[in-house]
Amino acid sequence: MLQIKNLTVKVNDKIIINNLNLDLATCEIHALMGQNGTGKSTLCRVIMHDPEYEVTSGEILFNGKDLVKLNTTEIAREGVFMLSQSPIAIEGVSNAEMLRTALSEKSNSPINIFKFNQKMEEICDKLALSHDFIHREVNVGMSGGERKKNELLHLWMLEPSFILLDEMDSGLDVDALKIVAESIGEYYQKYKPTILIITHHNKLLELLEPKYVYIMKKGEIVASGDKSLAEKIEDEGFKAFNISGLGNNE
Ligand SMILES: Nc1ncnc2c1ncn2[C@@H]1O[C@H](COP(=O)(O)OP(=O)(O)O)[C@@H](O)[C@H]1O
Ligand SMILES: [Mg+2]
Repeated sequence: MLQIKNLTVKVNDKIIINNLNLDLATCEIHALMGQNGTGKSTLCRVIMHDPEYEVTSGEILFNGKDLVKLNTTEIAREGVFMLSQSPIAIEGVSNAEMLRTALSEKSNSPINIFKFNQKMEEICDKLALSHDFIHREVNVGMSGGERKKNELLHLWMLEPSFILLDEMDSGLDVDALKIVAESIGEYYQKYKPTILIITHHNKLLELLEPKYVYIMKKGEIVASGDKSLAEKIEDEGFKAFNISGLGNNE
């Protein structure tokens, strides 16, 4: 179980997350929905401990540790992985260099280069990425769709146990969305990680079938249920839950 207890988060003295409580059963797929500006991306960044956000109270318990007290590197080593809404580019560092370093740090031993290359190639093939991507600089000069696939290459190599997908579907065409969703579905079947999907679209949820769906408004969870909740929102909008107000900018 990943437990978020009484979490309150401020940025520039403004409360963005307000006493939020959320329990995520491990090895299940969860979806978080809500209008723009309600704090969904902030929640992801806080789980990864972005120092820009000030946690004024609460804890985020994962594997018995409070992530609020760990730095981003330590959180990543715990097996938490975020596919962000807009993955950043890192000039001068190739995918292979970054992943080799991360994996050898994680296992505390040098990695087998032959096996590493073989696995990189297999994953590139699965994602319909050319093998050139192995030595490309991280996300540099890549299209939106390629960046998302490139992040998936990282995910398959690092084998995280808790995955945050923040609007992974944004900027993807139908075919790319299908490849990306199928790849995550396959990863889920193989490794049974806990997944939190943030999305506005039911399409991704139809492909990945979350067991639980939560609705966020103004930095709080205001409704939860099964995937029928997402279908209702797709059909009727957030009004259906009397939570039609906008986010924090309202
Ligand atoms: N670094 C920041 N500085 C100032 N305001 C921020 C910052 N990050 C988020 N916010 C504000 O917090 C609110 C929630 O943003 P966000 O978490 O991105 O919403 P969502 O992902 O649900 O659309 C918005 O009003 C946004 O402007
Ligand atoms: Mg967002």
